[in-house]
Amino acid sequence: MNITAMGRFTEFVPQEMVEELTQRAVEAQKNSYSPYSHYPVGAAILMESGKIFTGCNVENALLGATICAERSAIVSAVASGEREIKAVVIVLGEGGAPCGPCRQFINEFNPHAYIYSATSDGVIHNEWRLDELLPNSFGPKDLKHLA
Ligand code: THU
Repeated sequence: MNITAMGRFTEFVPQEMVEELTQRAVEAQKNSYSPYSHYPVGAAILMESGKIFTGCNVENALLGATICAERSAIVSAVASGEREIKAVVIVLGEGGAPCGPCRQFINEFNPHAYIYSATSDGVIHNEWRLDELLPNSFGPKDLKHLA
């Protein structure tokens, strides 16, 4: 696969790492369980530790019980004892942006994470820092008095 990256954040996430994440997200997308929407999504997340976790959307006959690819990858990372997200690549339809709840979920583990969206051919269409997608976020800082 010939992965085409963009490059605004290469200083923080090396090009080869974005390529590796994209490849892993393309693979995860193939495992998507999406019999209702027929809209498979794959995600790969790089943790600050250097470990990579993947996820895909898993739909349910109770449609609202569906979990998105990004959140399934994050749940897997947290279950393995990881907390700090560095970068996320999602692979979906036309390379669109992550949904609101997934932005919020990523925010919990790094409000400045780097986010890339790609299509299943490995072309990256967008790149953002999470705070561009979720400005003025509500997050752990707002509840630190409860911690
Ligand atoms: N979906 C994701 O997995 N991630 C997103 O960011 C957007 C939407 C999934 C949920 C559902 O299975 C399908 O895409 C259509 O909404």
